[in-house]
Amino acid sequence: MWKYSKELMDHFMNPRNAGHMENPDGHSEVGSPQCGDAMTLDIQVDDNDIITDVKFQTFGCAGAIASASALTEMSIGKGLAEARKIRNSEVAAYLGGMPPEKYHCSVMGHDAMTEAIDDFESRRDSVENAFRKVLRKPPAEIAQALVGRTVEPLHFHPVRIKVKVTPDAGGALAELISTEVSAEAGWDVKVILT
Ligand code: FES
Repeated sequence: MWKYSKELMDHFMNPRNAGHMENPDGHSEVGSPQCGDAMTLDIQVDDNDIITDVKFQTFGCAGAIASASALTEMSIGKGLAEARKIRNSEVAAYLGGMPPEKYHCSVMGHDAMTEAIDDFESRRDSVENAFRKVLRKPPAEIAQALVGRTVEPLHFHPVRIKVKVTPDAGGALAELISTEVSAEAGWDVKVILT
């Protein structure tokens, strides 16, 4: 029988942020090659690239549940780059230690977080590409609305884009670009003009 710390047992018995999201900004499904267990992880990210929420589900042991639970607490409020850097040893320390034999269980949480961030970034890149493609060859209605205006994208996110249009063009243009970018990306993207 493994000897688990009080903190680890608490995260195992009362996992934080267990569950899944309906519309995550980033999603991952990973497995542990050592034991065949599996995990899904969803993240929500705000317009400052800060992780605001994380949810996980796992068919894993006590070590996997507790370490994923700890990792969610440690990553909420962190930037994407910072969350990527959370090491398994830090998760183990957060849990008051972990039997060395169970270290591989915490690797699954780390892999799940890394892949969810990869998914977020890849969807964000797709949205940026879709936006730039639409602007390169805009349909007539958009081209007409943009005559005499400059367009400056301020921030890309997998489901929204903040764009500065000068002079101001109003909501109708935002709707038109949203429709085109959504069709290009393959999912709903909201364009917000500032
Ligand atoms: Fe499979 Fe721990 S033994 S995750």
